[in-house]
Amino acid sequence: MTPEQQRQQAQLTFAASGADIQVGQAAGCPLPIEQLLLTTAASPWVRRHFASGLTAEVYQIEAGGRLWTLKRARAQCKVQNLNGQTSFLNEVQRRAELQALKQQPAWTTALSGIVATQYASYRQGLLLSPWIAGEAVQEWDERRLLQLFASLSALLQLGFFDWDLCPGNLLDDGQIRLFDFGYMYRFDPLRACNSNGLLTPQCHAAERFETRSYYAYLLDLEQRRGSAAALSALELEKRIALECYQHLRQTLARRGASHNVLAWLDGIIGDWQQALRHDLARLYLREAWRSHWSDLDDDLQGQTCTPLTLQRLDWLTDCLDAQATELQRLDLLQDKPVAAWRQQLEQAREQALAWQIGG
Ligand SMILES: Nc1ncnc2c1ncn2[C@@H]1O[C@H](COP(=O)(O)OP(=O)(O)O)[C@@H](O)[C@H]1O
Ligand SMILES: [Mg+2]
Repeated sequence: MTPEQQRQQAQLTFAASGADIQVGQAAGCPLPIEQLLLTTAASPWVRRHFASGLTAEVYQIEAGGRLWTLKRARAQCKVQNLNGQTSFLNEVQRRAELQALKQQPAWTTALSGIVATQYASYRQGLLLSPWIAGEAVQEWDERRLLQLFASLSALLQLGFFDWDLCPGNLLDDGQIRLFDFGYMYRFDPLRACNSNGLLTPQCHAAERFETRSYYAYLLDLEQRRGSAAALSALELEKRIALECYQHLRQTLARRGASHNVLAWLDGIIGDWQQALRHDLARLYLREAWRSHWSDLDDDLQGQTCTPLTLQRLDWLTDCLDAQATELQRLDLLQDKPVAAWRQQLEQAREQALAWQIGG
């Protein structure tokens, strides 16, 4: 079994066991638990209702003189795969661990971008956090990138790997906040690249952010302000990611990380340094091709496609038409003929159209 399969197995066993995981105390809730459990969009304590979440119903509620986020698990998660089905359990597990770490003085500041959990119970399907009065990120500037990578750095050092750094899971209220841990899994940062051990070294924190969020932003930048602006935005992000990874490498080496992990980080660091010095455009193309394919794949696997899925498909199709030779030279087409890639894109488009969830 792969590490991911072991984790899935353990979560299914836990789900079948009837045991609960609870974070915080009922007494610490601003409303009685019974009342929270009865919450509907019409409840007088509800200010706003977000029905678009895939795992949960999310409500903004007002109680005890302030605003809170109430997340109620859906009976059936809308993401059609095993990780989707266990994502609420997973989130409660992560919240229990992260809330305990946030209370340790050594980690309080480093984890300030991670939302607090006031109360959570897996069996009650209930999760209560302070409301983040923020906005989705429209422009990724230096401050936002630095804050995000600072949080990611702390999480990686502590052995948390977040696979779903999508725009809907990041809010900015002057500080970049993370609040959705449905696909954040544990791993040993001294011995593994991510929560799949050493099996998928192509997946790492910067890659996850680029795949889920940043290349969607760059796609939009390309269209609004042209490719030079998109290229310089990539440069900014890579410089910040590079510094983050260099620091991470140092810290993990000091803590006795394995040769495999250090060599893997050295490879990524060296690659970025080289590209930043000599050939950023090529790095842009390589990461874009990878990001758009990978995110497309996630959407198709979960059968949850959006208009953005179609935009990514447009980008891939245009890129294949205009730059097939360069893609071949960068070894991105893996010996598969261009016609086969085109056919795959056409098939993906049909599926993406069939699996639109809107929004
Ligand atoms: N603590 C919070 N403060 C403000 N908004 C939140 C908070 N938690 C969730 N939201 C809003 O609800 C949406 C769905 O919440 P999320 O935790 O991402 O659920 P899901 O697992 O369904 O994706 C988010 O995209 C965000 O807009
Ligand atoms: Mg989410």
